[in-house]
Amino acid sequence: MTVSKAKEFKFISLLGKPGSGKGTQAELLESKFPFEHISTGELLRERVKKRDFIAKRLHEIMETGGLVPTPSVFQLWMPRLEHLRKQKTFQGLVFDGSPRKLYEAQMLDELLQLYDWDKNFKVLHIKISDKESLKRLQKRARSDDDKKDVLYRLRVFKKEVLPALAYYKKKGEVVEINGEQSVENVHKEILRKLKTFLK
Ligand code: AP5
Repeated sequence: MTVSKAKEFKFISLLGKPGSGKGTQAELLESKFPFEHISTGELLRERVKKRDFIAKRLHEIMETGGLVPTPSVFQLWMPRLEHLRKQKTFQGLVFDGSPRKLYEAQMLDELLQLYDWDKNFKVLHIKISDKESLKRLQKRARSDDDKKDVLYRLRVFKKEVLPALAYYKKKGEVVEINGEQSVENVHKEILRKLKTFLK
């Protein structure tokens, strides 16, 4: 096994409403630290291009702002984690926008224990208002950024992601970040609040 220094390994999960800047901040962290970045949204958008039965079903769910079934996300994560495990330079993982359900969080815990990647774990909750979420995504206009789809994603966030956040809060793993400031200042706040963790 190439990743032997388990105590140095860092796992950061970025959670927040649609448009809160999870992807943006994950990329900044990846550019400054020897971390890999997994965006489940991106993995799913790639998967959908295969145009088979599963791709069609996943596409329908994503286009309306729902969450895809948990087995489908683990099916995408596992080969990626195995691939990353073999890389010598890899010292941490930034999980952008996942997990999004309480039981997805519990299952991810089990998976990270298997890899021995569960020792240094933080969840960053990037907080923005619903109004800011809508404002940002209407400017971007991805295919799931229609106003009604964003409103649905916001409802899903409250129903599914908040319980996952509550689970992590109970374990003392959540760090709250003000997402309503410039990209650079959000990044600075993350670095400040994770100073000890990132050492
Ligand atoms: P995903 O692609 O993760 O979409 P999302 O969570 O809705 O998040 P967004 O990509 O819209 O926003 P973001 O927070 O990453 O912000 P970003 O940096 O892009 O997931 C898509 C779908 O996949 C889900 O709806 C679901 O169907 C499925 N899925 C994904 N993970 C899943 C899971 N674990 N389980 C089940 N299903 C899953 O920025 C957005 C915009 O804001 C950009 O234009 C950016 O330039 C701008 N911006 C960023 N930061 C700032 C700032 N500080 N100030 C001003 N503008 C900013």
